Amino acid sequence: MDVHHQLQIRQMQINLNTIASRKMNMYQKLSHRLSCLTLAGALTFAAAAVSAQGMDADPSATKIDTEIRQELEARLKEITADDHAHDIAIEEGRARTVLCKTCHGADGKSVREGTPNLAAQNPAYIVDQFERFKDGRRNDFLMTNLAQTFNKEDMLKIALFYSDLPEQTFGGGKTELIPLGKEIFAERCASCHGENGRSDEGYARLAGQRPDYVVKMLNEFKMQSGKRVNPWMTGVALSLSQRDMEAIAAYLANKD
Ligand code: HEC
Ligand code: HEC
Repeated sequence: MDVHHQLQIRQMQINLNTIASRKMNMYQKLSHRLSCLTLAGALTFAAAAVSAQGMDADPSATKIDTEIRQELEARLKEITADDHAHDIAIEEGRARTVLCKTCHGADGKSVREGTPNLAAQNPAYIVDQFERFKDGRRNDFLMTNLAQTFNKEDMLKIALFYSDLPEQTFGGGKTELIPLGKEIFAERCASCHGENGRSDEGYARLAGQRPDYVVKMLNEFKMQSGKRVNPWMTGVALSLSQRDMEAIAAYLANKD
C-alpha cells in the first residue's frame, strides 16, 4: 500500500467518527425481507437466526481488516500451492454451490436483480464478505442466514471455485454515461479497486459487475442504512450523485 493510499485511508478513518451507525428496526426489516424472499420454501431458516448480537456488531471493526485479509490470503496460498489440492478444493467448492446458482448463476454470472456476479472475484474478498454476513457486520436476510450454515473451510473452497471461473461481463446500464463513469472511476476509485477494476489487493473486484448491484451498494454505503458499513466507502459514496453512480456502474458493467 503506498503513502497516498495510506493517507486516504487515514482520512476516511477520521471520517468514521462522524458517521453515525444507524440500527434498523429488526422486526420491520425481517418482515420486509420475508415478503421478498421467493426461496423461503426451499430454505429452512428461522427468522430468529438473525441474531440481535449481529445487529449490534461494531461497525468500526475495519481496523483488523488487513490482518484478517493476510491470514486468509496465507491460507488460500497454502491450498493453491499444491495443484492437486487446489483442484480438489475447487471441486468440493463447486459441490457446495447448488443453492448459490439460483441467484449467482452456474458460471458465477448473476441471474437475479440486486445480486452480484461472483466469477473471478478475489477469493479473500468472498470469504471476508461471507464472514461479515455471518457475524452481522453486513446484513442481507438470505445471505446472513445462509452464511450461518457454512464453516470457514467450506467458505474457502467456495471462494476458490468462484475465483477460478472466467470473468463475466454483465453489460447493460446507462451506456451513454460510460465516458463520465470512466473519468470518475479513474479519479476516485482506481486507487483501491485497481486501474482496470481488477485489484488483487483483497478489495472487491468490480470489472464486469452487474450495474444494478453496483448502484444498490453505492447507495447502501451512502445512506448508511446499516446493511453495509465501511467508512472508506461511505466517505467516497457521499460525494456521488445518482447519475455519477449510474455512470460508474455502466462503465464497470461493460468493461472488457
Ligand atoms: C436467493 C438468492 C441468493 C442465494 C441462493 C445466494 N445468494 Fe449470495 N447474494 C445474494 C444477494 C441478493 C447478495 C447481495 C446482498 C446485499 O444486498 O448486500 C448476495 C451477496 C453475496 C456475496 C457478496 C459478494 C460481493 O460482491 O460483495 C457473496 C460472497 C455471496 N453472496 C455468496 C453466496 C454463496 C457462496 C451462496 C451459496 C452458498 C449464495 N451467495 C447464495 C443472493 C443470493
Ligand atoms: C480507500 C479505498 C477505497 C476507495 C477509494 C473506493 N473503495 Fe469501494 N470498497 C473499498 C472496500 C474496502 C470495500 C469493501 C467494503 C466492505 O468490506 O464491505 C469496497 C467495496 C465496494 C463495492 C462493493 C463491491 C461488492 O462486490 O460488494 C463497490 C460497488 C465499490 N466499493 C465501489 C467503489 C467506487 C465506485 C468507488 C469510487 C467512486 C470506490 N469504491 C472507491 C475500498 C475503496
